[in-house]
Amino acid sequence: MNSNLSKLQPYPFQRLKQALASVTPHKAFKPINLSIGEPKIPPPKFIEKQLAVSSLEIKAYPTTQGTTALRQSISSWLKRRYNLNHIDPENQVLPVNGTREALFAIAQSVVNVRQTDSNPFVVMPNPFYQIYEGAAILSGAHPLYLNLLSKNDYQFDLEKISEKKWSLVQLMYVCTPNNPTGRVLTLADWEKIFEYAEKYDFVIAADECYSEIYFEENKAPLGSLEAAKMLGYADYNRLVSFGSLSKRSNVPGLRSGYVAGDQRIIKEFFRYRTYHGSAMSPATQKASIAAWNDEDHVIKNRDHYRRNFSKVIKILESVTSCKQPEAGFYLWLDTPMPSIDFSIKLYKDYNLTVLPGSFLARANDHIDPGTDKIRIALVSSTEECVDAAKRIKQLIVDLE
Ligand SMILES: Cc1ncc(COP(=O)(O)O)c(C=O)c1O
Repeated sequence: MNSNLSKLQPYPFQRLKQALASVTPHKAFKPINLSIGEPKIPPPKFIEKQLAVSSLEIKAYPTTQGTTALRQSISSWLKRRYNLNHIDPENQVLPVNGTREALFAIAQSVVNVRQTDSNPFVVMPNPFYQIYEGAAILSGAHPLYLNLLSKNDYQFDLEKISEKKWSLVQLMYVCTPNNPTGRVLTLADWEKIFEYAEKYDFVIAADECYSEIYFEENKAPLGSLEAAKMLGYADYNRLVSFGSLSKRSNVPGLRSGYVAGDQRIIKEFFRYRTYHGSAMSPATQKASIAAWNDEDHVIKNRDHYRRNFSKVIKILESVTSCKQPEAGFYLWLDTPMPSIDFSIKLYKDYNLTVLPGSFLARANDHIDPGTDKIRIALVSSTEECVDAAKRIKQLIVDLE
């Protein structure tokens, strides 16, 4: 077996299941689970309908590149959303079966482990979406973490990594809007990231699957392709951006997203994916075109999340420091005791499941950025989110 497999940490939801296995939740409360970032708003009917209509199109193999129509709908959406002058649907866009598989696969095609060198590094934020770390390890690289701390406004400091290590970096994952902190990278952040990528010659994988969940209609989060254009990287040099329909259109079961950016990287990634066997089914492609072409349902979604955040924050701000994130649907909340203990107590006393922050982070630089945090996914009905917030508030009061 691949010996790197044994280096993979148990997935956060596995750890959560284990931590709660011997705990009996309080029967007086109806169970609420806000641990998973899975939208609970029903998918738009027109997407379901398109999927149903196309579901019998199974007589031919789909291609890895997907249909021209799909790539065109993605590139048109990217142009509209990020104000781009050009993004070539032939050479700069590929469909992916959800960003998860693609974020994993990109490391396998980018990282080059040379026998004579020290092992390469893959940089990622900390806390982070766990796929980055697993992808780095299975590509033969070492993960390098950049802490996201509330005292720094969840901004990472590239200078925390030595020049020597940067020179061995081959890939950097960034997540904007960030899961779980909700921070959006600024143009100044991007300027620095591009500068480093050029200086040390590495690829940037920008995970932007929360890009459409934000709170002010006229303030959409800055995207990586948009930042590249603004900073004069006309060909999106060294950058690949990953976007998804899962959160945008409430269709996590559809498995549909894209990768877009630097043509040289897309070309090699395409070569990898041909062998990997990751073509998207024709029905999914048609349903995806319908989804990318419509914004009304996305605007309605934002109304829902806006309402959830404003009500929940009103309840929690009286007992803990709590502010609305810039984007995304997570609250990354301070806890008055270690996050695992707090999460277990919340489940035991109030039948509410959230994710302990420490399951999403690693101790790095003598700090574990998830120790005193929980992640709450405000994906449910407003009523359920409000109920959950009241239970969290009560537990914090109980502990005082
Ligand atoms: C930060 C982040 N990236 C990527 C994904 C994967 O999303 P999908 O594979 O559904 O596109 C998720 C899912 O929760 C996520 O939180």
